[in-house]
Amino acid sequence: MKYKLLVIAAVATILFNCSDNKVANNSAGTDNSSKEKLAEKFGLTLFELENGIGPIKEKLILGPLDIEMASKGQNLFEEKCASCHKLDERFTGPAQRDVFERRTPEYIMNMILNPEEMIAKHPEVKKMLAIYMTSMTFQNVSQEQAREILEYFRKVDKEK
Ligand code: HEC
Repeated sequence: MKYKLLVIAAVATILFNCSDNKVANNSAGTDNSSKEKLAEKFGLTLFELENGIGPIKEKLILGPLDIEMASKGQNLFEEKCASCHKLDERFTGPAQRDVFERRTPEYIMNMILNPEEMIAKHPEVKKMLAIYMTSMTFQNVSQEQAREILEYFRKVDKEK
């Protein structure tokens, strides 16, 4: 009898925890309200908090990987970014292969296109600045070129 009760208690606990998790994950409510507070504290919109500040103001539609675009992006990366970034190791700036684990595509584009304002206003960049102690500078990259570099990041992300 005691054993039965224990089993029931265990099952109940598991069920309760599962449903609890679900609630926590689904409740955009709690999650969003803390994000909203953070955005408000830094004077940003929720979109800017997740996707950065700059010319990219809407979610991008990426489509399937475009190899030609990625290869142009690789050349640009080697020319304009590799002095500070490596793919797999920390250098002057953070490693880039795993950047999608931390950032949205739009955030990455805005960081490339508008680093000064990102550094001045975005809490995530401020955290990075405290770690890397160097400010990323604008590398004269057009929006189209930034999109090509993004495509290169998508390609190397798949090669992990
Ligand atoms: C002068 C060195 C320097 C150059 C050149 C540079 N970066 Fe950066 N980058 C940094 C540093 C340092 C950071 C971390 C934020 C900060 O401290 O400004 C960073 C951050 C980033 C981030 C955000 C990463 C994250 O996890 O949040 C991306 C994306 C990025 N750089 C891409 C690029 C690309 C693409 C280029 C070339 C067009 C480039 N960077 C050129 C130094 C540089």
